[in-house]
Amino acid sequence: MLTLAVLISGTGSNLRALLEAASHSDFPARVVVVGADRDAPGLAHAEEFGIPTFTVPFHMHESREHWGEEVARQLDVWSPDLIVLSGLMRLLPASVVTRYSPRIVNTHPAYLPEFPGAHGVRDALAAGVTETGASVIVVDDGVDSGPILAQERIPVLPGDTEHSLHERIKPVERRLLIDVVRRIATGDLVLAP
Ligand code: GRF
Repeated sequence: MLTLAVLISGTGSNLRALLEAASHSDFPARVVVVGADRDAPGLAHAEEFGIPTFTVPFHMHESREHWGEEVARQLDVWSPDLIVLSGLMRLLPASVVTRYSPRIVNTHPAYLPEFPGAHGVRDALAAGVTETGASVIVVDDGVDSGPILAQERIPVLPGDTEHSLHERIKPVERRLLIDVVRRIATGDLVLAP
């Protein structure tokens, strides 16, 4: 059984999809802890499913490095097999990435390497493209630059707002993420830095 730690910052809809998938006995992974860099609304999903949570407020630490070290200490309590960044809006410090790589994956609401960074949906809209996508990658010490594990194209529709486009992307992200976790858990997908 693959054990997962999920890190979030926001509403946690991708987290909820993982929790729901893991609640099925035939899913080969389970979430053992959920962490956040703030009092994220998505922590409520973990509480609903009875999953332990931790919060390491970014602003409580004097540096990204110190914040990252505390996140790592919290993660080490659970020794997860895989760390899933699902809406974590912080870059982990290189020391943390190096410590766990390649056992860290991230979901991103664009067709990487197109539109990396914190505003992938907004940037795709601003670029006027007719299609964007969703991606699941291995986290490296860059910004959304790690090996791509899964991705899928998604159309940009006339009149799309950042919200409407993102809400069309998220279900695809969730499906890709659940499939990647399943493939890692069954050994079909081997993570390499
Ligand atoms: C997802 O699209 C994720 O890829 C991006 O932020 C969004 C988080 O959504 N980094 P949610 O918090 O899972 O609803």
